[in-house]
Amino acid sequence: MTRRAVVVGTGHYLPERVVENAEFEATLDTSDEWIRTRSGIERRHFAAEGETTSDMAAKAAERALADAGLTADDVDAIVVATSTPDLTFPSAATMVQSKLGMTKGFAFDVQAVCAGFVYALSNASALIASGQASRVMVIGAETFSRIMDWTDRGTCVLFGDGAGALLLEAQEQPGTNKDRGILATDLNSDGRYKDLLYVDGGVSTQSTGHLRMQGNQVFRHAVEKLASTANTALDRAGLSASDVDWIVPHQANIRIIQGTAKKMGLSMDNVVVTVQDHGNTSAASIPLALSVGKERGQIKEGDLIVTEAIGGGLAWGAVVLRW
Ligand code: UT7
Repeated sequence: MTRRAVVVGTGHYLPERVVENAEFEATLDTSDEWIRTRSGIERRHFAAEGETTSDMAAKAAERALADAGLTADDVDAIVVATSTPDLTFPSAATMVQSKLGMTKGFAFDVQAVCAGFVYALSNASALIASGQASRVMVIGAETFSRIMDWTDRGTCVLFGDGAGALLLEAQEQPGTNKDRGILATDLNSDGRYKDLLYVDGGVSTQSTGHLRMQGNQVFRHAVEKLASTANTALDRAGLSASDVDWIVPHQANIRIIQGTAKKMGLSMDNVVVTVQDHGNTSAASIPLALSVGKERGQIKEGDLIVTEAIGGGLAWGAVVLRW
């Protein structure tokens, strides 16, 4: 038997304020048509004043607990993937721990920008496989609206805020690639590309900074690296793209999502797409899409899912799991 990390609950939270593309036309030389056709984004949610990453993360986690029929006392660890924590420290994860009323276990953040959720899932799976934890709440939560340069039309129209959570539980499975749970992961980064997507501020430079991106350069890396990491993770699980029921990709750009599916030889009928409603929510985008995909009735128990993401670093990776 093999100890696997199986998803037993999902939840998500989106801030109340919805901003349609057309709203940017008032302040920027842009159009709904450009944003829609170049990125696939139609609208995004922005956090309210005072609403923080850990507020949203805690709400998503509460919904995942309710979905699983469990309480915070049943959780051993919280991992939050975020690049936009409330404070420099403590971690957003410990703030979620406090908001959930958890006084035991452990909590920490993972920072791998848009690939953060894939990195967090991989870490949580290892904690479960090694016996260090039996139930891990893995959350992706971001307030990217706080690091936008509202005069830069090349970035500020693309990002949004939100949070998604998966509750993973240790379950003994037969030890084949038909098992439920996380079957394989693949993580990569290459710091040579650190200037393609970054924030020009931070604690040790004493500012918050704004997101800067050479979008078309990131785009060029994305399709190739995403299809490759997804295929590597599938290969590690002894599976191939033809076994996949759902690609649940990082939601940055519909053209990247389509290009990756095509490169993997899969149809868009096998892809969960939420980019039109959420924009790019960085580390939150995959758990948001998983939770929404389950709510829509797309994702069902037993489905083989591959998630993949790329972002600042560049950092990228994929996780293969059976729901
Ligand atoms: O999540 C982390 C990973 N990030 C990504 O995956 C994002 C990857 N990149 C992208 O999604 C796309 O590159 C963008 C959506 C950011 C841009 O699309 P593109 O087709 O690569 O456009 P571009 O950057 O090459 O720009 C084309 C033109 C430029 O004008 P000129 O130089 O051709 O005159 C831009 O100035 O579009 C212009 N442009 C805009 N026009 C209207 C850029 N942003 C806008 C805008 N509205 N908002």
